[in-house]
Amino acid sequence: MAAASPRVSTPYPGIIFLGPPGAGKGTQAARLADTLKLPRISTGDMLRDAIASETPLGKQAGPLMEKGGLVPDDLLITLITERISRQDCRDGYILDGFPRTIGQAKGFEEMLGGNGANAFVVFNVEVPREELLRRLSGRRWCPKCQATFHVINNPPKHDLKCDRCGTQLIQREDDKETVVTRRLRDYDERTAPLISYYDHHSRFHTINGYRPADTVFSDLRGILEAVR
Ligand code: AP5
Repeated sequence: MAAASPRVSTPYPGIIFLGPPGAGKGTQAARLADTLKLPRISTGDMLRDAIASETPLGKQAGPLMEKGGLVPDDLLITLITERISRQDCRDGYILDGFPRTIGQAKGFEEMLGGNGANAFVVFNVEVPREELLRRLSGRRWCPKCQATFHVINNPPKHDLKCDRCGTQLIQREDDKETVVTRRLRDYDERTAPLISYYDHHSRFHTINGYRPADTVFSDLRGILEAVR
């Protein structure tokens, strides 16, 4: 656990997305971030950036992520504590991929201070396993701006070029079949227990993610309207 974390509070609740790999957390978090004008904090993207920039964090995370394993809790808590302390998070933030273990959830609450449990809304996005596999195998990703597409569900407009910045899209290394198996196993063993950890929380909402992205998004909007 991170030592002596600064306490952070915002006037609006933070938003946490829980769900297995491929559930659509990133897709929905990005849309909410655009609409609500809040920062989307994707720990997966931050770690991939750290790997690309060959930072000390990237050097530790790289070999673990390549095999589909989770990065240690203390590194993630330090990363999030620093990120949420920044000025752009003062009105709220959207967490995509954190917390992912009970240890991270506890570290996060400690960081938020005494009122931590009221400081966020949790969306638990559920999607059947066969659909997760279809989504992950068809996902294509922009290594420059990190936009996400799908070869069938959400294809880019031109060949395999990013609609936003024109960069050639690629398949994420961890979307290859053997790595996906490990990621799903880690989800079951280490992240799924967060559902029972949070389900007593007054702002915990399970969302059926096996519907068109627009439908899922309007549900999320409706819930957020009611809690703000
Ligand atoms: P991360 O990048 O966070 O991956 P993930 O959680 O496994 O989630 P994904 O990005 O795979 O899926 P998603 O739910 O965001 O789905 P998406 O919207 O892209 O983490 C990667 C790695 O980093 C981890 O394995 C771990 O090693 C490390 N890491 C990160 N955070 C960590 C932490 N806190 N602790 C420890 N380690 C950590 O959608 C998927 C596809 O489906 C896309 O192609 C999309 O277009 C399509 N799609 C989306 N919604 C729909 C829909 N409604 N209908 C049809 N298709 C859809």
